[in-house]
Amino acid sequence: MQKTLFERIGGQSAVEATVTKLYEKLLNDPALAPFFSDANMAELHRSQSAFVTMAFGGPHHYKSLDLRAVHLDARLNGLGHAHFDATLAHLQNAMRELDVPEDMILEASEIVESTRRDVLNL
Ligand code: HEM
Repeated sequence: MQKTLFERIGGQSAVEATVTKLYEKLLNDPALAPFFSDANMAELHRSQSAFVTMAFGGPHHYKSLDLRAVHLDARLNGLGHAHFDATLAHLQNAMRELDVPEDMILEASEIVESTRRDVLNL
């Protein structure tokens, strides 16, 4: 059977490496950082690990309604397409810096793209 993207990309250790890079990029982006200002380090690590695991098609328990609920406050605080696009671009750049092959970056991008309506509560 074809392995999942999560397995092909390197599983949990690939998630960890990506989160470390992504974290810096998100928090250094003045348009995105304010959305994360209420969370402590441990929470941020957990939610970003969950985000990257999802993006890699790995094991996670989020359904459409859960994604809507966890992003509702952000939506009410102005979360929109530009923030979504910027987050996806940071993820792509983090993966590039880790030398992930472009076809896998594309696959992860498609998974992330499939969550847009839920994350933005559209
Ligand atoms: C690009 C697609 C995105 C996906 C697939 C995604 C996915 C997730 C997941 C799985 C969590 C963890 C939820 C939990 O606590 O269990 C989360 C939390 C969070 N996300 Fe996203 N996210 C995305 C985009 C964004 C964007 C663009 C922002 C804002 C710039 C954002 C802000 C947050 C915040 C603030 C939390 C913590 C919420 C809380 O625990 O109160 N997310 N996200």
